[in-house]
Amino acid sequence: MKRGRLLLRIAAPFLIFIVVTLVFTSAAFWMTHTLIRHLEGVNAWLGSMNPERREYIQLLATTLISFLLLAVAGRMAAWIGGRFFEHPIKQLIETIRQVSRGDFNIRKPLKRKLQGEFGELSDSIYDMAEELKEMERIRQEFISNVSHEIQSPLTSIRGYSRALKMNPGMEPSEQSRILDIIETESLRLSRLSDNLLKLTSLESVHHPHEPKPLRLDRQLRRLILACEPQWSGKGIELDVALDEVSVTADEDSLSQVWVNLLHNAVKFTPEGGTIAVALTEKEREVEVRIADSGIGIDGEDLPHLFERFYKADKSRNRTGTGSGLGLSIVRKIIELHSGQVTVRSVPGEGSEFTVRLPKPDGPKA
Ligand SMILES: Nc1ncnc2c1ncn2[C@@H]1O[C@H](COP(=O)(O)OP(=O)(O)O)[C@@H](O)[C@H]1O
Ligand SMILES: [Mg+2]
Repeated sequence: MKRGRLLLRIAAPFLIFIVVTLVFTSAAFWMTHTLIRHLEGVNAWLGSMNPERREYIQLLATTLISFLLLAVAGRMAAWIGGRFFEHPIKQLIETIRQVSRGDFNIRKPLKRKLQGEFGELSDSIYDMAEELKEMERIRQEFISNVSHEIQSPLTSIRGYSRALKMNPGMEPSEQSRILDIIETESLRLSRLSDNLLKLTSLESVHHPHEPKPLRLDRQLRRLILACEPQWSGKGIELDVALDEVSVTADEDSLSQVWVNLLHNAVKFTPEGGTIAVALTEKEREVEVRIADSGIGIDGEDLPHLFERFYKADKSRNRTGTGSGLGLSIVRKIIELHSGQVTVRSVPGEGSEFTVRLPKPDGPKA
């Protein structure tokens, strides 16, 4: 089958060439003969010659005129071909040059102008340019988000340190309040850089991912105890129900998931609230639910919650310590474990984050 196609590909241009030449030459011969026969003067002149010479002149004239016709037809074919074929190719080359200059503002032609493999090539070049444009947009947005997140703590550190410098006689209590703010803002910067590094590492193909058997209930219990100062400090009650469950996971990255979700639950739950942590073994997967009785999340924010730098209720978050990277790290780690993370929330009543992980030997979630 493949050999047959190859032969056809090689033979087809030759066949087309032979057919075209035959058609054109016959047409040209026919036309020149008719022309000579109908031109009186030429006819009389030829009639006065001896037959051998007449045949020779006739043949010469016919050949010359047919070549002329062929040349005109060839020129026309080149012109038509140029319009239908050469122009889109030139356009494509110009597109490639534009992309290599870093300009991705390319408009894909509405109608595919090239056929066959050239058509596919042109489609994939336009698609590639579109993808590069999207990547460039994401990159620009990322840089602007990072600069914004760096800028606000820096502005406040600069402002407060200047205030300290300008007022040497400041009350010690006021001085200590300002130093606390400077410390918090520097911690925020360092957490931001930490999270950025984590996210970049998670997105690189070289991220160390070493899944091993892990007792998930023990890990969760340990982490809940580790953040006790935060939740008990706010008088939050913790309701913990953990099945004895093992999963195959990278211990360090998975613990980052629970830390991020628990910290959010504590951060967005007012004093005296409750947080429920449940680990259940289902038929095909393992499920962790972290539910709080906190401020909740608006429906319009829910679809964007796991995006980088996304903060719901910006006014409340402007002075907060978060950078909106925690949940994107959570999602990335859970994806690396072939799991899923989802959220349900009722504003004013609370939020529930559910993580589903595949069971060690069961089918993937
Ligand atoms: N348990 C929660 N209750 C209410 N809002 C939450 C909760 N968890 C996350 N959010 C919202 O999602 C946003 C993104 O969370 P996250 O990625 O952890 O960023 P950060 O905590 O750094 O602000 C938060 O700014 C907050 O608005
Ligand atoms: Mg967070």
